[in-house]
Amino acid sequence: MATEKERLMENIVSLAKRRGFVFQGSEIYGGIAGMWDYGPLGVELAHNIKDIWWRMFVYNREDMYGIDASILMNPRVWETSGHTKTFSDPVIKCVKCKKQFRADQLDNKNACPACGGKLSKSQPFNLMFKTYIGATEDSDSISYLRPETAGGIFVNFKNVVDSMHPKLPFGIAQIGKAFRNEIAPRDFLFRLRELKQMEIEYFVRAEEWERAFEEWRLAMLAFAKEVGIPKKVIHELEVPESERAHYSKRTIDFEFDYPFGKKELWGLAYRTDYDLSRHAEASGADLTYFDEEENKRFIPHVIEPSFGVDRTFLAVLLSAYRVDEIKGEKRVFLAFKPAVAPIKVAVFPLLKNKPELVTKARNIYQMLKKHIPQIDFDDNGNIGKRYRRQDEIGTPYCVTIDFDTLEDNTVTLRDRDTTEQERVNEKNLLEILKKKLVSF
Ligand code: GLY
Repeated sequence: MATEKERLMENIVSLAKRRGFVFQGSEIYGGIAGMWDYGPLGVELAHNIKDIWWRMFVYNREDMYGIDASILMNPRVWETSGHTKTFSDPVIKCVKCKKQFRADQLDNKNACPACGGKLSKSQPFNLMFKTYIGATEDSDSISYLRPETAGGIFVNFKNVVDSMHPKLPFGIAQIGKAFRNEIAPRDFLFRLRELKQMEIEYFVRAEEWERAFEEWRLAMLAFAKEVGIPKKVIHELEVPESERAHYSKRTIDFEFDYPFGKKELWGLAYRTDYDLSRHAEASGADLTYFDEEENKRFIPHVIEPSFGVDRTFLAVLLSAYRVDEIKGEKRVFLAFKPAVAPIKVAVFPLLKNKPELVTKARNIYQMLKKHIPQIDFDDNGNIGKRYRRQDEIGTPYCVTIDFDTLEDNTVTLRDRDTTEQERVNEKNLLEILKKKLVSF
């Protein structure tokens, strides 16, 4: 029998597929492990998450610069950063059925959990995807799909300093794909082989790192609030030295209560001057910063707030999932904050076969769409079913055009969470909606 938590996860995966949020990658060919595709609603939800992140951490500040670097980089980047040597997980293989397991996740290292066969010794397995650039497949043409977006930020540090002349402390932000050849991808969007990251490298004077670390810790909690992840399901874990990434002197993992356990959502690391110093040494480029205030050159230290888009998406979905009862009937709804909701407003004519209602509803829909592009029009089935469909995808407000609208230009405005309805004048509708959508 599935536990309640397992059922919750099944319900989320099934809702995500049924309602166009997330599909299994290459599904018609039987899928591909560790890859998921975002559907029409998922792409909007992910877009909203990235948009809030960019607004909070780039637009709303004066010390941040955005970039968008290539996924394929000179392989020396990853030799220098230490990833070719140390970015690995321990793998154990079954001698009999050839299945592979992560050694650190096996309870019994003596027998294969799948077939009971003998297991090999644990070996490090590098998680970077290798590929070849150009027509020849030899060691000179090897490149890697980037395992973190951070690499693209460090190699562009000098470009940003030389072109934008930022004053320290300042940060560089990037949103983009990263790839990890996970031994055991699992738990839906949690452990992926192709993922999206939102990363910041925030450059500081060495003596400023503790203050900056604390500022970013608070900023990350503020982001959780903005996207609707409650404080009580986020736990900060001070990662001990033995478990920290090779570049980090201090790391906090922000863990989330997933149905499959308390696990990492985001990370905050103090990477010291490790990356810039190593890249300066290996490339020969001058990666120092000239501090006019102190009249000296030095390599800045760096604080790294790192977020996964996919894990944030999953946490937002799980945080919003609700089941209640309306007039004796079970209702599933997503209590998204309007800022993340993939559809903000749905407009309905009460009846589909009354052209005057449909025309009026379409006019109102077109008027609203100019200002609120994430909007839906639905004239299919009875009105109760339409409300349920919108509740299930987390649409905060529905607008219904009925016969009274034709008489007095009022429409009903229904609230997803309370299901209460109010009549408002069509001419005030846009302003009322705008206010409601920002003041949640
Ligand atoms: N840059 C940190 C990470 O990718 O986990």
